[in-house]
Amino acid sequence: MQIESTTLWDFPTQNYGDTSHGDNKFNGVTPAFVIWNLLQRYTKEGDRVVDPMAGSGTTIDVALELNRKVRAYDVHPVRKDIIKNDARKIPLPDDYVDFVFIDSPYSDNIKYSDEPDCIGKISCEKELFYDELEKVAQEILRILKPGKAMGWVIADQWIKKKFSATGFLMWQRLEKYFEPIDIICLTRHNQTSNTGVWHSRAREFNFYLRGFKYLFIMRKTNYIK
Ligand SMILES: C[S@@+](CC[C@H](N)C(=O)[O-])C[C@H]1O[C@@H](n2cnc3c(N)ncnc32)[C@H](O)[C@@H]1O
Repeated sequence: MQIESTTLWDFPTQNYGDTSHGDNKFNGVTPAFVIWNLLQRYTKEGDRVVDPMAGSGTTIDVALELNRKVRAYDVHPVRKDIIKNDARKIPLPDDYVDFVFIDSPYSDNIKYSDEPDCIGKISCEKELFYDELEKVAQEILRILKPGKAMGWVIADQWIKKKFSATGFLMWQRLEKYFEPIDIICLTRHNQTSNTGVWHSRAREFNFYLRGFKYLFIMRKTNYIK
């Protein structure tokens, strides 16, 4: 397995094109270029793309621009083209889609909505957080055509002097179902913690600023595991 460090996050074409993608004011928005890059690599025109936790709809905008068919869901839709749905039960047939992109909650650090089914209400310090995301992984596995790929963005957590290896713990769950393709480090130089206050806190309490997220790229195998 190759671990690659990249600056995709800050790539100059992050804001490519004339149209907008998703909503930069949405807390937890995925940079459009991350999705654009995945769709270029793992799909072709006319393919079916799904985002089970669509947020501000970045996946929809990028997929349509690249002439892919797209279906996007969220437990708290903020646009008409996002279907209200819990990602633990996706209303699509088995072996139906060519690619799934998901940028899931990383813990209970962001308040997305008041929806009781929001997985972002569960702390990543609890086993339950991974159990619920594993149900989403099982659904992604079910709807993907054999041999097709998915991309999952997630990050670690360091709060109240405690580190949670959220990314690796989630990877362990995903490995039960999918074949690894790659692990990408999405660097975040313009993140909110890149300020003087956070730098001095990091020195005082001896922790590293969270400067990256993981992008896990995995494939549904062609055979039964
Ligand atoms: C990190 S955001 C996604 C950001 C999105 N990719 C974008 O670019 O705007 C995570 C999303 O997961 C949604 N979510 C949380 N639990 C969910 C569930 N059980 N089913 C569906 N969506 C869920 C939240 O409402 C939130 O919009």
